[in-house]
Amino acid sequence: MSEPGIVVLGGGQAGFQTAASLRDLGFAGAITLLGDEPGLPYQRPPLSKAYLAGKTDAGGLALRPAAFLAEHRIAYRPGLRATGIDRAGRRLLTAEGPLPYAHLVLAAGARNRPLPVPGAALAGVHRLRDLADADALKEAVAGARRAVVVGAGFIGLEFAAVAAARGLAVSVVEAAPRPMARAVSPETGAFFREAHAAAGIAFLFEAGVAEILAADGRARGVLLTDGREIAADLVLVGIGVLPNQELAAEAGLAVADGIRVDAMLATEDPHIAAIGDCARFPTRFAHGLPGDGTVRIESVQNAIDQARCLAGRLAGRPAAYDAVPWFWSDQGPYKLQIAGLGAPGDRSVLRGTAEAFSVFRFRGDRLAAVESVNRAADHMIARRLIAAGTPLTAEQAADPDFDLKGLAGARR
Ligand code: APR
Repeated sequence: MSEPGIVVLGGGQAGFQTAASLRDLGFAGAITLLGDEPGLPYQRPPLSKAYLAGKTDAGGLALRPAAFLAEHRIAYRPGLRATGIDRAGRRLLTAEGPLPYAHLVLAAGARNRPLPVPGAALAGVHRLRDLADADALKEAVAGARRAVVVGAGFIGLEFAAVAAARGLAVSVVEAAPRPMARAVSPETGAFFREAHAAAGIAFLFEAGVAEILAADGRARGVLLTDGREIAADLVLVGIGVLPNQELAAEAGLAVADGIRVDAMLATEDPHIAAIGDCARFPTRFAHGLPGDGTVRIESVQNAIDQARCLAGRLAGRPAAYDAVPWFWSDQGPYKLQIAGLGAPGDRSVLRGTAEAFSVFRFRGDRLAAVESVNRAADHMIARRLIAAGTPLTAEQAADPDFDLKGLAGARR
């Protein structure tokens, strides 16, 4: 029998990238990549954007064709669910028998947080995480007239923009007082609230859902906790995600809103790593944030960069993970790009115009994050400044004549 190689649990962006980077770096051992979804590994970000809007098809989502997996000797096992980790025996248990490993990579991702109210499982209530969700939602949008979106986060707002552009009447119900409160400054939140409102989207902030109302077994609207009712033939729930950490926890690994790993992305078991949406890791970019200096990040950048970092270690080139976090969201005509990790209480400094601007967020005297709307150049500069920890004052950030690009370039 061949030597056990690397088993990667999770066929999403992080898992796929781990396998691909291992081969890029010359790893010659066996690689098994398994995930519980059918089909080839694919990109998720377009699901709530171009795919939903009908601008790209399923073929356009695949990360690589099937031939790539074969050529790179990646044993891909789609539709296979892992059921347990036998740490002592170094075997991943699956529905089709155990897979022995020399190293196990947990790239298990995250799942939608369920809305805990009566009616949440009715026909007409949707979520958006995977391709099957997107296909169901796309079909529903084609036949719907009124949509209620629960949650004004990235998913909710990206969907709302597409649905409104398709002519649906859209209402967004959000628990917080502003959109994307977890991720962006009040200034950026206000910009998107106004932009979406101008496109006809109605917002209900500080609102709670008590029940999804039914008629003939289908959703017909949403009852709010204050007694208001909003009619809808389509409800999209986008209230955040939960990390898939249960197998790790059951195997005795430390979890705390994510599987705990060190700077090398290793769990306390030297034969098990965790990366991507399911992993909680230490980072200098969490400086001044509440908590213990660790974060769990849900982004494509984090999935890809952690996969590359880990593949390096497993291929004999160890390095601590130290990439600057960045994110993006496309909402109607606006592109939002975020570099760094912002937090409530950061001081905002604006640069640019009403339609194309950046919010520089300072924590103490440090630049913690930059949000750019239709200002891609600022975003690229911000990534460099934050990565390098280049000193920048609020006055410099606010001064339109200050040469930010020169500062970022000079310090590289
Ligand atoms: N009722 C209304 N709103 C709620 C409720 C609730 N019961 N619970 C949470 N919310 C709101 C939050 O206040 C937040 O504004 O839902 C929003 C969820 O936003 P995100 O945390 O950004 O999550 P989501 O939009 O679901 O995106 C999930 O997909 O695109 C990725 O980066 C994105 O990783 C994120 C994931």
